[in-house]
Amino acid sequence: MQLTGIGALVTGAASGMGRATAGALAAAGAKVALLDVNANAVGTAAREVGGHACVCDMQDPRQIERGVAAAIEACGPLRILVSCAGVGRMEPLVGPDAVPFALLAHTLQVNLIGTLQVVQLFAADLVRRERLEEGERGVVVMVASGAAFDGPMASSAYTASKGGIVSMTLALARELGDHGVRVNTISPGAFVSAMPWRAARPERGSTSPAQPSGIATAMPVPTLTLSPGPIVAGSLARRSQPASWS
Ligand SMILES: NC(=O)c1ccc[n+]([C@@H]2O[C@H](COP(=O)([O-])OP(=O)(O)OC[C@H]3O[C@@H](n4cnc5c(N)ncnc54)[C@H](O)[C@@H]3O)[C@@H](O)[C@H]2O)c1
Repeated sequence: MQLTGIGALVTGAASGMGRATAGALAAAGAKVALLDVNANAVGTAAREVGGHACVCDMQDPRQIERGVAAAIEACGPLRILVSCAGVGRMEPLVGPDAVPFALLAHTLQVNLIGTLQVVQLFAADLVRRERLEEGERGVVVMVASGAAFDGPMASSAYTASKGGIVSMTLALARELGDHGVRVNTISPGAFVSAMPWRAARPERGSTSPAQPSGIATAMPVPTLTLSPGPIVAGSLARRSQPASWS
C-alpha cells in the first residue's frame, strides 16, 4: 500500500511504540490520527509528527466511539489501524500485594475489549469505502506480546488480554479478509518504553522507564532491549508486501 495521503489511526500514540509508529507513518506521507488517554502527551506527539490528536480513554466505549469518529473526520478515510494502546502491571492475584479486581478488569478492558471496539469501528467505516487499486481496502495491525505465549509471574490479566488479541487475529483476518482488509498481530518481547510494568500498587512500583532486565527474567521469551524502532520498521515493511488476505 502506498502511504502517501493515506489515513491512519494509531492508538496509544502518545508514547513508546505507538508514538514511534505514528512518526514513521507520518514521515512516509500518511495522515495520522494519534489516539491516547494522555491528553498532554498526545497533543505534543501530534504536533511533533504533524498529526491530529484524539484524546480518548479506551476503558470507556463512548469515548472510543467519539475518538474513532474524530479520527475519521480529521484524517479519513482511514485505511490503516495500528493498535498499540495498552497497560501492563504486575498484578498478583493473592497475598499482601493482591491486586483489586477492578485493576484486573481495567487491564482487560483497555488491552482487549477496547482494542476490539476500535477494530470494529475502524472496520465498519472501512468496508464502506472504495477498494484501492490492488483490490485491498486497508490493514489492521494489533499488538499482543510474547507474554501471550509464555506468561510471566503475576501477569494473568495482561497475559489474558494479549492472548485474546492473538486468538482473535485469525477470526478477524478471515472475516475482514472478505472485505479486502488484512489483519496482522505482532507479539514483541520486552523492549524499553514508558511501560515499566508498574506495580499494581503505585507506591510499590517504579515510575521510571522500563526495566527490561527485570521483565526478561520473568518472561523467558526473546527480549529486545532496543527502542521500538526495529519493530515499527518491521511492521511497516510487512505492510509494504503485496496484499494477501485470502
Ligand atoms: N514495552 C514492552 O516491553 C512491551 C512488550 C510486549 C508488548 N508490548 C505492548 O506494546 C504496546 C505499546 O507499549 P509501549 O511499551 O510502547 O508502552 P507505553 O506505555 O510507552 O505506551 C502505551 C500507550 O498506551 C496509552 N494508554 C494506556 N491506557 C490507555 C487508555 N485507557 N486509553 C488510551 N490509551 C491508553 C498510554 O497513555 C501510552 O501512551 C502495548 O500494547 C504493550 O502491551 C510492550
